[in-house]
Amino acid sequence: MATTDTVEETRLRELEQEIARLRSQLMQSEKLSTVGVLASSITHEFNNVLTTIINYAKMGMRHKDEATRDKALDKILAAGQRAAKITTGMLSYARSAPDRKEVHDLRHLVEDVLLLIEKDLQKHRVSLVKEYRGQPASLVNPSQIQQLLLNLLINARQAMQGGGALTVILSENQEDQFAEILIRDTGCGIPADTLPRIFDSFFSTKQADEGGQGGSGLGLSVCKQIIESHHGRIRVESSIGIGTAFTIKLPLSRQVGLLHASSNRAG
Ligand SMILES: Nc1ncnc2c1ncn2[C@@H]1O[C@H](COP(=O)(O)OP(=O)(O)O)[C@@H](O)[C@H]1O
Ligand SMILES: [Mg+2]
Repeated sequence: MATTDTVEETRLRELEQEIARLRSQLMQSEKLSTVGVLASSITHEFNNVLTTIINYAKMGMRHKDEATRDKALDKILAAGQRAAKITTGMLSYARSAPDRKEVHDLRHLVEDVLLLIEKDLQKHRVSLVKEYRGQPASLVNPSQIQQLLLNLLINARQAMQGGGALTVILSENQEDQFAEILIRDTGCGIPADTLPRIFDSFFSTKQADEGGQGGSGLGLSVCKQIIESHHGRIRVESSIGIGTAFTIKLPLSRQVGLLHASSNRAG
């Protein structure tokens, strides 16, 4: 009957809206939990910045000559600007972003994320090698791509308990028209029998102990959702005791342009 159909269709639409709302809420709370992981090293970094500012201010007050005062002011300015860059990055990341995509320079997105995690890596004795090949741009929701990268970077760091090396390579493949971001760690690796489950919601091997809160098991499932909504791909390769490499592929902006043009035509 037509009326029953309409009632059911309306109910179905309501349910779909509710699922979309819950999904975005979940992504936002998962995002805030990564902020929590980084909070202690960022606080530490702030203390260092404040110590620099206070020491140079004291030096400027003690010395009457102009050259020394100018030098002190330069140092204070640089320290203040660095702190402002970190807070701005953190605030823009933590904000609940509108669901909108724009063409972005991927190198900027990678650099902004690395700035947030740099101190955390140093604190855990993880060295960082980064390499940028070309200047790929892609049609992305920048906040979601940063969330995706941060999740992978934090997982990599957490896999290197006694320290290690993290490699981040951004490149572009003109042949298949994809930008590629490789994140490789020298951590514990993932056993072959767990590998198929790592993208499942709530799958985590991280236990709560005195050092950490354990894992939510939501990081990689959120990554997968983000990748799918960007028509991208994610691949993982891992060897026990050697490390893990995640590769993300995002369509270069021209190809995304074509994709959208064709899907608009189809619709
Ligand atoms: N780089 C990595 N090295 C080793 N194991 C990893 C790595 N990334 C993910 N994993 C495994 O995948 C599981 C799921 O990851 P994730 O969804 O981010 O949840 P969580 O980090 O909360 O445990 C982790 O618990 C871990 O077992
Ligand atoms: Mg995680």
